[in-house]
Amino acid sequence: MKESVLRYHPRLPELGRIEVPRSEIAYQPHELHTHLLHFDQPVYLLNSPNGLGTWIPSQTTSEDQLTQTLIGALPVQSPSLLGDPRFCQSHGTRYAYHAGAMANGIASEELVIALGKQGILASFGAAGLVPSRIESAIQKIQQALPDGSYAFNLIHSPSEPALEIGAVERYLQCGVRCVEASAFLDLTASIVRYRVAGLHQTNGGVKITNRVIAKVSRTEVARKFLEPAPEKYLKYCLEKEWITQEQANLAAHVPMADDLTVEADSGGHTDNRPLVILLPIMLKLRDEIQASRPYSTRIGVGGGLGTPEAVMGAFAMGAAYVVTGSVNQACYEAGASEHTRRLLAQAEMADVTMAPAADMFEMGVQLQVLRRGTMFPMRAQNFMSCTVDMILLTKSLPKNVIRLRNRYFVNLLLKFGSRQKLSFWSVILNK
Ligand SMILES: Cc1cc2nc3c(=O)[nH]c(=O)nc-3n(C[C@H](O)[C@H](O)[C@H](O)COP(=O)(O)O)c2cc1C
Repeated sequence: MKESVLRYHPRLPELGRIEVPRSEIAYQPHELHTHLLHFDQPVYLLNSPNGLGTWIPSQTTSEDQLTQTLIGALPVQSPSLLGDPRFCQSHGTRYAYHAGAMANGIASEELVIALGKQGILASFGAAGLVPSRIESAIQKIQQALPDGSYAFNLIHSPSEPALEIGAVERYLQCGVRCVEASAFLDLTASIVRYRVAGLHQTNGGVKITNRVIAKVSRTEVARKFLEPAPEKYLKYCLEKEWITQEQANLAAHVPMADDLTVEADSGGHTDNRPLVILLPIMLKLRDEIQASRPYSTRIGVGGGLGTPEAVMGAFAMGAAYVVTGSVNQACYEAGASEHTRRLLAQAEMADVTMAPAADMFEMGVQLQVLRRGTMFPMRAQNFMSCTVDMILLTKSLPKNVIRLRNRYFVNLLLKFGSRQKLSFWSVILNK
């Protein structure tokens, strides 16, 4: 690990007898409670004839001192001290905390703005929205957060590349300076364009104007974001006049991503990987790739972080920042219905399941959804089976349907087809 991610208050006084200003000691339960909520100051525990007391040292001096027995101390625990401070500097936030994108505006303008005002980075859920809707979100968020502590989701769109190209164009035109790049299986010209079009030469260095937070769950994809942009995409971007020659040269000196979110088992699209295994693997990978380079991509983690304990655990394991998703869906500001919020509030750990994804249905992709109180997973699975059966059992299909079938449904069949169906399928393909 390149730097310490947990920074505690450095020194506490020795246990034993100490002099304490009488007016600064709290004995009453409600006073103790107030003291204990001062996470950003050390709180000392005193044993006195009046019972347990707490003391928060102030800068003032007092004549009226009491001799007390110091029995313990609670170090500074401010959330703003957790994680990598470079994350906060880079994104202009108070906390090393990121609220991940949630499609169709579930991570709404209101959510992004409310969190941004509290010094927390949040990504607008642009996936699945029409361009005009995304543009109005950009305007609204930029007006409310002129300092730029917000991000927009750039979701990889393999079946409709125009969506990805269009989103990058819009983000560049509107001056969106941070994207959360997700669902990428490989780099694309669009993400390289966004990154490299924001590079500028400074005195002896490279200024990065377009920040990329890449969200990944596989090492092969992580590797691409930890390295500089590949030559072939730079060439393509130059031909298209999306970037200048100077920017193409500068690209060799920076990684594709400033931040890499390692996504463990999470709500939404997920590879169901365990956080405790995935995070150390990615930290090691980062260190191997970037050991001899003058930069270090910060590694954050998301997936299953729904409680303070889980967040603390992620920081203790070396995460530079943490990412949440599902828990934010329950906020008033989220673009979710009251009904959804109520279902989520009742959900327990085992109340989720995998179901076919609406946005990548043809590719056989599954995502994690709520099971309790909804028929969605059963219906989606049923629809998937019907679709597979229909395709397999229809013998004389029109040409365009055959092309669709061969192009889009192969993965799905490999995943869901029984051996019998697959042999039937191979007969059809060989015809
Ligand atoms: C309803 C829902 C929709 C999501 N949509 C997206 C999305 O469009 N783009 C994206 O990058 N991540 C999306 N995510 C993932 C979140 O940004 C985040 O990485 C993940 O939810 C973190 O795991 P957790 O849900 O266990 O907290 C979605 C998550 C949920 C729950």
